Amino acid sequence: MSEEPQKPLDTGMAPNPEMAPDPRLERLYRGEKLQREDYLELIRSRDDLRKEASILACRVRDRIYGRQVFVRGLIEFTNHCRNNCHYCGIRADNKKLSRYRLAPAEIEDCTDAGYKLGFRTFVLQGGEDPYYTDEVLSGIVREIKRRHPDCAVTLSVGERSVESYRKLREAGTDRYLLRHETVNKRHYEKLHPKAMSYDNRMRCLKELKELGYQVGAGFMVGSPGQTDDDLADELVFLGELSPEMVGIGPFIPHKDTPYRDEPAGSAELTLFLLSLIRLTLPTALIPATTALGTIDPLGREKGIEAGANVLMPNLSPAEVRGKYMLYDNKICTGDEAAQAISRLKERVRKTGCEIVESRGDHKDWGE
Ligand code: 5AD
Repeated sequence: MSEEPQKPLDTGMAPNPEMAPDPRLERLYRGEKLQREDYLELIRSRDDLRKEASILACRVRDRIYGRQVFVRGLIEFTNHCRNNCHYCGIRADNKKLSRYRLAPAEIEDCTDAGYKLGFRTFVLQGGEDPYYTDEVLSGIVREIKRRHPDCAVTLSVGERSVESYRKLREAGTDRYLLRHETVNKRHYEKLHPKAMSYDNRMRCLKELKELGYQVGAGFMVGSPGQTDDDLADELVFLGELSPEMVGIGPFIPHKDTPYRDEPAGSAELTLFLLSLIRLTLPTALIPATTALGTIDPLGREKGIEAGANVLMPNLSPAEVRGKYMLYDNKICTGDEAAQAISRLKERVRKTGCEIVESRGDHKDWGE
């Protein structure tokens, strides 16, 4: 008598019921911690696991946040920068860039426009520009909070002293984005000039946490010199740091930087890592970034389908939008504009999620 081969149990997790679910993804899904070797094997098997990882990531996200997508109005208020990061288009040595700064009143007016469009979080992002002293920035934050007390203010203005972070927090800043860029010290030193230090970046992240900010960390995917081992270390590091927000996007070369001829990172790998980050940090707020939307026209939708739950439309005045060029072809004329929010809503709806009018604070388990 010939026996029928046994079909593996269909748990509904594997994309194809013929395939057994991956045990490492299942462990992550159950809330277990993985070792770097487990992450490394996952990363190496990414071509076979992307679908399963994204299904589990969305299930985890939906359990905590439902199918809600939060939007942040991004105001890129200065492209002056004292730093010289080798990858970045607004680095100080890029003399071809036309530089701009927004006056406090202009920034504040952007938030009024954003409020009318339904934004309840404003992200003020800029290069490290000494023009914006603690006093100037604190004044701006206080005024935004005065006008819009129901909104969250996020700053993303790089490395500053602990006193500075304290003053900005006292002025009412709720959140701070500071990508660590890479967890590997040697790699950090390759991507940055000697004047910058890995230890200082890590100090900043630690102090921001201690001051009670909701903190965002993150890295570029496919930056020059990055290996699969580095990526495994990134996931272990993020699991330990446990930031409230994690921003990742593909590296994209900029024509007026030393990395002009380096290959861009891939959308597929970014999406797979995004799913692994969601599984590692279920409650994190994770944006589908502009860089992802730049290398793939459907990148933001795909990001949400991989487990992201944040979008950051551009609220900067139209005249300056093309000048905040961190990398080549950064999208700045289409649906990433805050004014195009209704088109964005439609696009998000097609993924089965919904943009909501909310501050979209970080949720702890059970909240
Ligand atoms: N490609 C992709 N992302 C970049 N960033 C800076 N330059 C590039 C680039 N060439 C990212 C960095 C920074 C964030 C504001 O933009 O990660 O933290």
